[in-house]
Amino acid sequence: MKYTQEIEKRKTFAIISHPDAGKTTLTEKFLLFGGAIQTAGAVKSNKIKKHATSDFMEIERQRGISVATSVMSFEYKDKLINLLDTPGHKDFAEDTYRTLTAVDSVVLVIDCVKGVETQTEKLMEVCRMRDTPVIIFINKMDRDGRNPFDLLEEVEKKLNIKTQPLSWPINMGRDFKGVYNIHNKSLLTFGAHQKATDEDIIALPDLSTEKLVDIIGEKDAASLREDMELINGVYTSFDTEAYLKGDLAPVFFGSAVNNFGIKDLLDTFIEIAPSPKPRMTDKREVKADEEKFTGFVFKIHANIDPRHRDRVAFLRICSGKFERNTFYHHVRSDKKVRFSNPYTFLAREKNVIDDAYPGDVVGLFDTGTFKIGDTITQGEEINYVGIPSFSPEIFKELVNNDPMKTKQMEKGIRQLTDEGVAQLFTQHGGNRKIIGCVGDLQFEVIQYRLLQEYGAACSFRTLPFFKACWIQGERQKVDDFIRFKQANIVEDKEGHLVYLAESEWYLNTERTNNPGVKFYITNDFEHELV
Ligand code: G4P
Repeated sequence: MKYTQEIEKRKTFAIISHPDAGKTTLTEKFLLFGGAIQTAGAVKSNKIKKHATSDFMEIERQRGISVATSVMSFEYKDKLINLLDTPGHKDFAEDTYRTLTAVDSVVLVIDCVKGVETQTEKLMEVCRMRDTPVIIFINKMDRDGRNPFDLLEEVEKKLNIKTQPLSWPINMGRDFKGVYNIHNKSLLTFGAHQKATDEDIIALPDLSTEKLVDIIGEKDAASLREDMELINGVYTSFDTEAYLKGDLAPVFFGSAVNNFGIKDLLDTFIEIAPSPKPRMTDKREVKADEEKFTGFVFKIHANIDPRHRDRVAFLRICSGKFERNTFYHHVRSDKKVRFSNPYTFLAREKNVIDDAYPGDVVGLFDTGTFKIGDTITQGEEINYVGIPSFSPEIFKELVNNDPMKTKQMEKGIRQLTDEGVAQLFTQHGGNRKIIGCVGDLQFEVIQYRLLQEYGAACSFRTLPFFKACWIQGERQKVDDFIRFKQANIVEDKEGHLVYLAESEWYLNTERTNNPGVKFYITNDFEHELV
């Protein structure tokens, strides 16, 4: 077994949330604890402004800055933490879904006032596909939010995962007094902490002690004891194995902006979160401690600013040791590739690195070689699986405004969709090109980049679809379905058949009427529509 120490040291994860729940604030507090930044506000200033949707160039400029924070590595208590950033802007949700394929676990932030929101559900759906272990942080306890028991129930119902509180709030809003850490039986009282330290934590193994009354008062002590009695009646001791399998989510309560409850969360995270796990390829499972290097590209960032026309491919190392200036095998193209300036980010500084280990993410300068999902190895012919495309939400027909530039447009749209800017579909048995995106912004980006980089002018015609489903099934049944729904059938770039549905109602009707056809929500035919 190779590099065991390096592998066990690493925890690669992402913080995810519905916009505004507190992801950026929590990220910043983690970085402060890890010593990766010195001042509050450093991450916030890099954040893509959620509301500036009208100006995509401004958003792209900010996205350019955010490349520098795509991976934030820091050390905390002998562990090396790779925190993968996910864009907060909803139009870049697909970027987030892809990033989730490269992490070993996630921390999910939920606003205690709003509870489970739409984006929370979508993100969790992606986590459930890979059984990614999830820790939940219920944020903004300094506000008058929902009852914590109700929140847990909502999480279990809407996110389809069992929960177990490892900390418990004492009141909320103006009366918020602090949290009791059920995991290590200690109390942290709420004050204006800038950085809660170990000294602030009071060990309280027995809640019947008078000390509790002295600290939080009689009424709150009584209600905490009552809550804990209920909790102890429902939950047994925390089952780390169930968490690692993605079956059970431990829950913490706190307030990110007040840096409250964050240390508890981070300490438990480094104790229980998984180090790099084995990953599936199309041929076999690859273990992180195998000697030979393997990895895959999960994200490509192209800067559209003409003054900085750089493209960076993000490679997740899955096994072995990645070394600079070494020839590797690019499986899809069957070519040799070598990287002279791979970089990582330690303490927010971009550093050219000589080597990297499983769990690390390296940035590779790319001139158009890579496509999302590409595997790189030391020679083995394997392809990592589980980096699927998800259904877009907006569909438009691509209209070529300059027939003299058809070739350029075809090349441009292929390259842009390889980068993951959008998905390209072609009418089944025809030539119409349909672009699918998660947000409207991408259409502007495509239009701009096709013109600037390929000299091809285009426009879009809105189409009435809301979801793409990849279809498979008995030959005859699929053929009948295609014939019947011709106007809704397209092919993706790999030639897979896709049904575009106008509405939930149509989708359900077609499913009922065509039991011989299976509808999938990802292009790898692994996840059937339920
Ligand atoms: P996001 O990345 O998930 O979109 O959320 P972000 O951290 O930007 O937080 C969204 C808003 O919620 C911010 O306020 C932030 O200050 C606030 N917030 C985060 N944690 C807490 C908390 O524990 N309690 C309370 N009360 N608020 C919290 P904003 O007004 O949008 O931005 P800012 O002007 O404060 O930076």
